[in-house]
Amino acid sequence: MAVTGALLVGFVVQHMFANLQIFLGRGVYNDYAHFMQSLGKLLWVARLGLILIVVLHIWAAVRVSRLNDEARTYRYHKPRNYQVTTPWARYMLFSGVVIFLFIVYHILHFTAGVADPAVFNHWEVMVDGHWMPTPDTFDITKLPAGTEIRHDAYEMFILGLKKPTVGLFYIVANGALAMHLAHACSSMFHTLGLSYGKYRPFVALIGPGIGALLLFGNVLMPLAMLTGMVEVDAVGAVAAASGHH
Ligand code: HEM
Repeated sequence: MAVTGALLVGFVVQHMFANLQIFLGRGVYNDYAHFMQSLGKLLWVARLGLILIVVLHIWAAVRVSRLNDEARTYRYHKPRNYQVTTPWARYMLFSGVVIFLFIVYHILHFTAGVADPAVFNHWEVMVDGHWMPTPDTFDITKLPAGTEIRHDAYEMFILGLKKPTVGLFYIVANGALAMHLAHACSSMFHTLGLSYGKYRPFVALIGPGIGALLLFGNVLMPLAMLTGMVEVDAVGAVAAASGHH
């Protein structure tokens, strides 16, 4: 549980910093997305690796809670009166299920592009050595042969999260993720036997610290799109359209 959890935390933290590049503009963000796509087979290895880690993490969760139940000689007759715990710790299953549902939706949304195809189908074309955005109605099947195109992840990102229900779902799901990690990241140190003596108070703060960092970064993005703080920067769209229509 702790080892797969640590790998997943590593992924979400780097994913957050990578996504925050959206605030640096179209060029920076799409160059990054394009670089990821250019990894080809390596990207698939990373994707399959992540899926395997998620499956192992869920398997470990089921096993740990089963062992926990079995270790109890007498069943509880009344609902438990928790005294030494945190709200985060009590809702691990609930937050975990919300995160799982979010991941499924998120992949359909931004990787497969089937949850909202109109938002996914945006492309940039190469014009005179520069990547140029194209208008919404742009038809990539009508491009002259040999024209270089790349996915416009920047527009997909902004237009996707601008929709109130979608943006709010991202905020709720990342709230659940922050809650999950507030407990998990401290718990991981207990499991690995690294929470003792003078380290204890510090370990107790790691979880809420990482949770708060992720909450801030990951909620900032949908919030920026919902409030219109970040709008699509369409510089060059007209030039690209006139060259190719
Ligand atoms: C506000 C929070 C988040 C935002 C704005 C966001 C944004 C994105 C975007 C734009 C992509 C597609 C990148 C591209 O097409 O180049 C993506 C992919 C992905 N995200 Fe997130 N993400 C967020 C949170 C999360 C969380 C919490 C998880 C996991 C728990 C996650 C897991 C993934 C995965 C697995 C992919 C697929 C990577 C791939 O296609 O290879 N994301 N995300």
